[in-house]
Order: sequence, then C-alpha cells, then structure tokens
Amino acid sequence: MLKALLAKPKPLVYVESHAGAGRYDLGTEQALKTAEYRLGIERLWARRDAFPAISAYLGAIAALNPDGGFAVYPGSPALAAHLLRAEDRLILMELHPTESQTLRRHLGGDPRIGIHRRDGLEGLTALLPPKPARGLVLIDPPYEQASEYRRVADALLAAHARWPTGVYALWYPRLGLQRDRSADLIGRIRGSVSDGLLCELTVRRQVDDFGMHGSGMLILNPPWRLKEQLADLLPRLAEVLAIEETGRSTPTWKIGTA
Ligand SMILES: C[S@@+](CC[C@H](N)C(=O)[O-])C[C@H]1O[C@@H](n2cnc3c(N)ncnc32)[C@H](O)[C@@H]1O
Repeated sequence: MLKALLAKPKPLVYVESHAGAGRYDLGTEQALKTAEYRLGIERLWARRDAFPAISAYLGAIAALNPDGGFAVYPGSPALAAHLLRAEDRLILMELHPTESQTLRRHLGGDPRIGIHRRDGLEGLTALLPPKPARGLVLIDPPYEQASEYRRVADALLAAHARWPTGVYALWYPRLGLQRDRSADLIGRIRGSVSDGLLCELTVRRQVDDFGMHGSGMLILNPPWRLKEQLADLLPRLAEVLAIEETGRSTPTWKIGTA
C-alpha cells in the first residue's frame, strides 16, 4: 500500500494507532520461547527470491541486518520509516510505557517521526485529518478484550468520517470458533463504508479452541490494483506459510470487496 502511495511525488503521512516497539530482536529469550518466527519469516525468507512483489518488505529486513538473515525484525513503524522519503511524515501512537520508550529509542531520532504515548483509538480522532491529508493509517490492535472489537470498529468509522480520503488498513485475527469476532467487526464497518477490500490468509483449519489460524486485513480506499496484486500474492503466501500438511488441510484464502 505504501509503495502504491509512493508512486506519486506528493508528500504523504503514515499514521499508526498501535505502533509497538518499532523493531524486535528475534534472538532474545522472550522471542525464542515461542519462536513464532520459525513458522513465519523463517519460511518466507528461505523462499524470498520467489516473491519480488514484496521486495520492499524483504528489503527493509535486509537493511536492518547488514550481516544477513532476519534476527532484527522490523515492526510496521520501521517498515514504513524505511520506505518513506525525506518529505514524508510518520505519526506513531503507543500506549504502553515500556513499548513506547523502546519505540522512541529505536525511531525517535528521525526528524520525520512524531511519537505519542497515548490511546491510539482516541488519538485517531484527535490527530486526523493529518497535514498533508494524503496517506495511510494502520490499525493493529492486540484485541485483548472482547469489547475492543467494537471500540476498534467505532474508532475506524469515526476516523473515516473525519478523513474520508485516507487509506485505512485494519488488521484482525481469525481465532477458534469460541472466540472469533471477525464477522461482527467486519459487519459493523461494512454497514457504513462501501469502498473496501477484505483479504484473509489462513494457515490451518479453524478449530474449536482459542488459537489463531489466520488473520485478515480490512482496507478502506484501497490503492488502485491492490486487489489484483493480492489475488496473485495471497495464495502463494498461504502455500509457503501453511502449518498443517497439505492433505490434512488446505490453506484457504479469500479476497473480495467489503
Ligand atoms: C500488535 S502490537 C502492534 C505491533 C506493530 N504494529 C508492529 O508491527 O510492530 C499492539 C500494540 O498496541 C499497544 N496498545 C495496546 N492498547 C493500546 C491503545 N489503546 N493505544 C495504543 N497502543 C495500544 C500494545 O502495547 C502493543 O505494543
């Protein structure tokens, strides 16, 4: 999405409501405990030559790891900072004190970047529309409480009402049958906004427990041709990232107009 926006010379703004720490060291004890990267970037990295469509993302990882590999992994703010130009701006919100301090340590020295320790959902209404009013908003909440889904949907709709021409990307998890609230979340937004794109990537079957079997992104005002690009990319990504052996489960993907 940023690549599409960068195709025009006009400056743009990248806004993130839940920015996290900026980048992550996959060699720490905490990262090694779950070693989630082994199911994700490790498998993709081995096949990276087959994915020129995401060379910007892979290039951001390479830039952080001059000696090779992916041990230092960029969070979304670092990806955006890597791609954006000197004339662009980044507005990053992060509520958690430790995360926000780490974010400041990693990216605070960059004159294009403003870091705000605040509630990102309230912040969206307060800070939008940005100047210049051209750019992308990423909303990547932790969804720790059931009530967060409704708050997120309402905040996205309020942000969109304040800045209808912004591009918005909302991430959401696909969870086990007992906890999956994606249909409510999407339904709430779909009821009010017509120009959207919904894409999901699932890597195993949905089961009746609390685990995550995939995730989705709801995009409002999607850049031109994004749908076609994702239609090509997602099935190939699903193939590389599938967790269950083919035969027991086929990775599914879904793409369409919200
Ligand atoms: C899933 S992580 C974001 C990861 C980030 N997008 C990345 O790619 O590195 C969610 C972050 O939201 C923060 N957070 C939780 N509630 C928040 C809120 N109400 N406002 C802003 N940040 C919040 C958490 O501390 C956590 O760092």
